[in-house]
Amino acid sequence: MDLTRAADLIRRGEIVGIPTETVYGLAANALDVAAIERIYAAKGRPKTSPLIVHVDSIEMAKTLVAEWPPAAQVLAERFWPGPLTLILPKRAIVPDLVTAGLPTVGLRMPAHPVALALIRACGLPLAAPSANRFTGLSPTTAQHVRDSLGDRVQLVLDGGPCAVGIESTVVSLAGPKPMLLRPGAITREEIEAVTGPLGEYVKSGLSDASPGLHAKHYSPRTRLILGLPPPEGNGAWVFHAHAIEGPRAVEMPSDPEKYAAALYDTLHQLDQGGLDWIAVEPPPASPRWDAILDRLTRAASAGDS
Ligand code: TXA
Ligand code: MG
Repeated sequence: MDLTRAADLIRRGEIVGIPTETVYGLAANALDVAAIERIYAAKGRPKTSPLIVHVDSIEMAKTLVAEWPPAAQVLAERFWPGPLTLILPKRAIVPDLVTAGLPTVGLRMPAHPVALALIRACGLPLAAPSANRFTGLSPTTAQHVRDSLGDRVQLVLDGGPCAVGIESTVVSLAGPKPMLLRPGAITREEIEAVTGPLGEYVKSGLSDASPGLHAKHYSPRTRLILGLPPPEGNGAWVFHAHAIEGPRAVEMPSDPEKYAAALYDTLHQLDQGGLDWIAVEPPPASPRWDAILDRLTRAASAGDS
């Protein structure tokens, strides 16, 4: 069976594509430096970008951190397994390569049965970034992973399309106050109901609290515009509320959870359509759309990384 083969590969220090409920991950033994090197190489990712470590339990999480504060316990009990990554001070057994030299590690217990079964089968925490080439669109199907990484990965476990469809919410518990580092499927309100008000990470230029958060990230190759289509060229209008005359129209769900589940697959498909641009109707200004707005803004960014 593929799961047995995947567990063997992981134990031998190889990388495996895995389904999670958010996006597909490119997994390796989080405690094996040579295996982690393979992740960075396959992704073409700079080693300044820390990886999330996936665990199968609070118990396994505690073996990786120097502190497990009460906020971690409440948040994990409330949201794990699920799309929430907690940043905590790491223990020395977590290689510096996993955390890009940071003294903290990002941990999450995924809700996908195949991901959990693999962690259990090999008995190891799995470092896994999204299984795409660096700055590319995150994969939400096994085929997206094969399209992006090709023979850079020997095995991709197929767990079907990802139910959530965008990456986990990242919350730091390593500072004096809990801080939201990346909006995701679990909303700020849901977290604040447990922790009280969250601080917001603002890039200062001096210190970068979440070095993986490049402005240009999650991008299709085709130019993405957040707003009305330009007058020239051949493109698609991706809308959830307002149809317009002219370009190829792609209607998205008007419910944010369903929209998120469809977003990357829609962009993957349009990206293969030889278009000059993809214009996306801006999402409503509502907290439930925060994570979608974040990903679309990054995908539209002509940023320098
Ligand atoms: O849903 C997800 O989180 C997916 C699935 C596979 O679990 N993973 C994912 O990984 O999105 P990746 O590598 O594409 O994004 C991880 C982000 C980094 O870019 C960084 O912003 C943050 O998590 N991160 C990880 N470790 C961190 C740390 N020690 N301190 C601050 N931020 C960290
Ligand atoms: Mg990623």
